[in-house]
Amino acid sequence: MFSGGGDTSSTALEWAMSELIKNPRVMEKAQKEVRQVFDDIGTVPDETNLQDLKFLKLVIKETLRLHPSLAVIPRECRKRCEVHGYDIDVKSRVLINAWAIGRDPIYWNEAEKFYPERFIDVSADFKGSSFEFIPFGAGKRMCPGMSFAIANIEFTLAQMLYHFD
Ligand code: HEM
Repeated sequence: MFSGGGDTSSTALEWAMSELIKNPRVMEKAQKEVRQVFDDIGTVPDETNLQDLKFLKLVIKETLRLHPSLAVIPRECRKRCEVHGYDIDVKSRVLINAWAIGRDPIYWNEAEKFYPERFIDVSADFKGSSFEFIPFGAGKRMCPGMSFAIANIEFTLAQMLYHFD
């Protein structure tokens, strides 16, 4: 729980800040939203108004697409099958490359570009049913800390964008 919960969230946060610094347009837009939302209600960011930070949510999604904290997700094969011409035996260990899937040009336009707005038009979500976007994994063993992680990242990022230039 501690290793799964701590490092993953801080890694995502570091990547979000890194991408924002490299993309001043996105930084400005995200910062404007945070400051507008919280100045309008006359308070510094707290968890009650996170749902109003629509663009910040897109920034976090785009960060997790390009930089999933766990790049590969392990599975063990339960039933013999064939994938792209390869026979996968029972008990084989398979590593699913979430990092590569998130950058696959078959699924993503300008896949390497940090462009949070892409998620306005794309219905893909990280809740485990869009297999082209699996930063929290999928299926029975997907991350049980997802909602907590997202709330934590949103809250911390909002605080930083609000208080610092
Ligand atoms: C950005 C933050 C996080 C990311 C990207 C992340 C990602 C993942 C991924 C990819 C898995 C494997 C899922 C699979 O096998 O399908 C996983 C498992 C897990 N995560 Fe997270 N995680 C995050 C935050 C957290 C937090 C905050 C907690 C707990 C407080 C947590 C607890 C766990 C646990 C206990 C598992 C193992 C679940 C199992 O094997 O049944 N994670 N996480």
